[in-house]
Amino acid sequence: MMKIHSTVRIFLLVVAGIIVASCVAAQSGTPNKSISNKSQLAVQIVAQGTTRGAVACARCHGFDGASDGSGAFPRLDGQSPQYLAEQLRHFASGHRQNALMQPIAKGLNDDEIDAVAQYYASLHAVSFPSHSVPEQLRDRGKQVAEVGDLSVRVQACESCHGPNGEGDLISGVPYLGGQYSHYISVQIQMFRQGYRKSQQMFVPAHNLNEQDIIAVADYFEQASRPAGK
Ligand code: HEC
Ligand code: HEC
Repeated sequence: MMKIHSTVRIFLLVVAGIIVASCVAAQSGTPNKSISNKSQLAVQIVAQGTTRGAVACARCHGFDGASDGSGAFPRLDGQSPQYLAEQLRHFASGHRQNALMQPIAKGLNDDEIDAVAQYYASLHAVSFPSHSVPEQLRDRGKQVAEVGDLSVRVQACESCHGPNGEGDLISGVPYLGGQYSHYISVQIQMFRQGYRKSQQMFVPAHNLNEQDIIAVADYFEQASRPAGK
């Protein structure tokens, strides 16, 4: 009699244990299961951020990666995925300094970085209409971009950033064509002041004068636009 009782009790305890365990598993397991797919994970981060401090990317970069057109936030759409992931790691480590992006990048783990980089890399947003650029400035910008300026030892930007500044997916050199002019010129200042570090960008950032930086930034912003300017 006693023996049957204790067997039943153990049996009931085991059943109860299984029920509790599966409830816990269901609770903690559900969100992971529903975002097991990388692109779903990316969409969730872009729309909602992470609980570890990453703010929803869409707030500043949009869902399409075109950002808001002010030039305060870079376009991310169609950028090389390695480049995007590398920059997020640079923000997280402090190699690249920016008050907004550093805490956000620190709130992403490795898988999340790869997922959001893939997400924005795969998009092709519509370009915003840009301001018009005086012809003389445009010509100078084109010259710096395509030929460089030997008198200050600056080689053509396009020798690394590709024809029309379209970037290089294989080496991960970012595109400049269609990027916001304001963002491009601010980044050149960042390289100059050491908030961003890149051996390849050191000479162009230090040797170009202000006027040429504006000229080349304006040139690239318009470079991706179809014929007809
Ligand atoms: C509050 C606004 C804001 C939010 C939210 C934000 N960013 Fe940014 N992001 C910026 C700014 C500003 C820069 C330019 C930083 C600089 O000047 O170095 C930037 C730059 C970047 C860059 C570098 C691009 C390049 O061309 O070098 C990447 C990559 C990036 N953000 C990804 C993300 C991702 C992914 C998220 C979401 C997890 C995100 N950002 C959320 C404001 C934001
Ligand atoms: C020797 C190769 C090389 C040359 C020449 C070069 N760049 Fe770069 N540039 C790079 C690399 C590599 C990066 C990525 C650096 C990093 O990882 O932060 C970069 C990054 C940039 C960025 C940041 C883009 C972004 O999305 O944040 C800008 C802006 C830029 N370059 C502008 C220029 C301009 C303008 C010129 C010509 C005056 C130029 N570069 C010439 C290699 C080059």
